Amino acid sequence: MDELSRRSFLSRVGMSGLALGARTLSSGARADPVSPAPAEAAAAAGRVPITLRVNGRAHALEVEPREILLDVLRERLHLFGTKKGCDHGQCGACTVLADGRRIDSCLALAVAHDGTEITTIEGLEQNGRLHPMQAAFLDCDGFQCGACTSGQIMSAVALLHEPVGGADRWVKEAMSGNLCRCGAYQNIVAAVQRVRHGGV
Ligand code: FES
Ligand code: FES
Repeated sequence: MDELSRRSFLSRVGMSGLALGARTLSSGARADPVSPAPAEAAAAAGRVPITLRVNGRAHALEVEPREILLDVLRERLHLFGTKKGCDHGQCGACTVLADGRRIDSCLALAVAHDGTEITTIEGLEQNGRLHPMQAAFLDCDGFQCGACTSGQIMSAVALLHEPVGGADRWVKEAMSGNLCRCGAYQNIVAAVQRVRHGGV
């Protein structure tokens, strides 16, 4: 291919590429001419009616099958005590109880907990009295910035009903899914042990 014909070939390819791009852009602009009505959008999204039982109250909700329990708790029920840390099941900040067992709510689908009894940090206090684990965290300085604390406390409450050995090392092992960037681990273990051994 001599220099001239090569130039004309490249120029034709360039022009057809531009034309293709222009068609793609214009068809993209036409793709969503009218936004669907909210009811149609909900039906299209396949919302599912569920009853989420949180801290003793039943909430009738319509959720998309992909909605995450943590987001429903925080954004729809406005229970902000449950924290979003990593959002990937790595830090434990989002720990709640589901029928008494601890789970990472950032990894749980709300639709899978239809009818489940969910307990969040807001549900621990009874008649104005802190749960013994909350009181122990205060007494033992089991926190610094507090970002991990609600998850730590929810995990610790569940731990009380789990077959965990008596020594500190077993508490550390059982709480290893709850990270604390402030490094308050020693005081967290002290708080858990205080409740386990009847100190509160
Ligand atoms: Fe759920 Fe970190 S936010 S484990
Ligand atoms: Fe700050 Fe645990 S108290 S992350």
